[in-house]
Amino acid sequence: KKILFAASEAVPFIKTGGLADVTGSLPKYFDRKKYDVRIILPKYLCMDERFRGQLHFKCHFYVNLSWRKQYAGIFEAKQDGITYYFVDNEFYFAGDKPYNELYQDIEKFAYFSKAVLEALPFLDFCPDIIHCHDWQTGLIPVFLKTLYGDENYYRGIRTVFSIHNLKFQGRWSLPAVMDITGLPEQIFTADKLESYGEANYLKGGIVYADAVTTVSETYAREITTEQGGEGLDGLLRARKNDLYGILNGLDYEEYDPQKDGYIYNHFNEQNFQEGKKLNKARLQKELGLPVKENTMLIGIVSRMTSQKGFDLVAYIMDELLATEDVQLAVLGTGEEQYQDMFRYFTQKYPDKIQATIGYSEERAHRIYASCDAFLMPSLFEPCGLSQLMSLRYGTVPIVRETGGLKDTVEAYNEYEHTGTGFSFANYNAHEMLGTIRYAISVFRDRKKDWNGLIQRGMKQDFSWNRSAGKYEALYEKLTDFE
Ligand code: ADP
Ligand code: GLC
Repeated sequence: KKILFAASEAVPFIKTGGLADVTGSLPKYFDRKKYDVRIILPKYLCMDERFRGQLHFKCHFYVNLSWRKQYAGIFEAKQDGITYYFVDNEFYFAGDKPYNELYQDIEKFAYFSKAVLEALPFLDFCPDIIHCHDWQTGLIPVFLKTLYGDENYYRGIRTVFSIHNLKFQGRWSLPAVMDITGLPEQIFTADKLESYGEANYLKGGIVYADAVTTVSETYAREITTEQGGEGLDGLLRARKNDLYGILNGLDYEEYDPQKDGYIYNHFNEQNFQEGKKLNKARLQKELGLPVKENTMLIGIVSRMTSQKGFDLVAYIMDELLATEDVQLAVLGTGEEQYQDMFRYFTQKYPDKIQATIGYSEERAHRIYASCDAFLMPSLFEPCGLSQLMSLRYGTVPIVRETGGLKDTVEAYNEYEHTGTGFSFANYNAHEMLGTIRYAISVFRDRKKDWNGLIQRGMKQDFSWNRSAGKYEALYEKLTDFE
């Protein structure tokens, strides 16, 4: 079967978050004898030259977007045996980052979505399924069904729409989106593209796709409730029979403590004590923190947005750092208020916290490998990959019980000596602080138990093995016409 992933980012070419980890690794883990999975992405000018340089021009054509007629070049690259296509248009993809102002992105991704469909006859690859990811590709199922539905070439194509984050929907004014897309007026109604007076790309994807998935079972449930539904819970309840929660996997080849090229010392489930000790000391040194083996070092690697629970962190930071023997290694970029908060505390407690405001693959891997614990108190979390990376590297996650965090971190039980991390239920700063303190006490006073936590965590299997099979089953179901 032929599957085409359409997405706005994928590793190693371009990444702003977990979406890229998923779209860039999952295709490698399908049964290659049965599935030819390819990916199509925008050819961003901000893509690293290392990658831009290896793309080959394949063909070009023009995309009609309402009254606009836009050039589209197609470039191709092979990576780990997977074929990647790139849509080239320097008017749309010239920004210094993949996403720009929303009004720009609205037109940009309408163009991209149409270009993906127009590209198919030129690619010599007519997919059985187009698998779309997040709002940026939400218009693909819409265009396919409304504008291409009757054309022979497109008739058999099925679509899967995956929600990686329901919060981002791509909403813009109705008349503007009508003008940009050239879609007929009758689809801008409340049962289709319209939502709270605006046009909504994500909603379009949910309404028009043959199946909808999201990235964990708990999140799949949460988004059908009013609290988690971001205004679309009614629609998601209506599509319940076609909504699947499929947990993300992690690329265990890329994230492997035994061969990770970014980390100082390699280790495994057996020798992690020595290995992690060395890594920790090196990271402390690199960050300018006092090298102390017995002080718990907590890592944070994250987009700095309210989704990730930084309001809670801000609220208890003084209390935590003033009263506990603890260190924090932080890496992230995002909203000013959170960047400033981390800068402020770094200045105030330089021996206890070092925050790097920026993006660094190397630093991220080193934090996952070197810390004792990893803090991820998200307000909501569709799946979360950082906690999976932490588990893989023997770094004990401290998480809030939401979405994929709930599905992947089992709370420590001191009586039964089970669990892989620490968790708390309510979005409450002192509940989080209490949980951190509990973790510190286990780290300090019960080394054997702590090592048990690490070992159980490292033994978990969150590779793609299980989940890729679930997508395969879904593809089979959608293409079984008997
Ligand atoms: P989200 O997609 O919501 O940001 P995930 O946990 O699914 O959350 O994935 C985040 C990904 O982005 C992980 O691979 C994480 O290591 C990476 N990441 C986030 N911030 C940074 C950063 N500042 N530098 C390097 N990697 C980062
Ligand atoms: C989104 C979510 C994150 C998820 C990632 C990949 O960015 O915020 O929880 O892991 O997508 O699916």
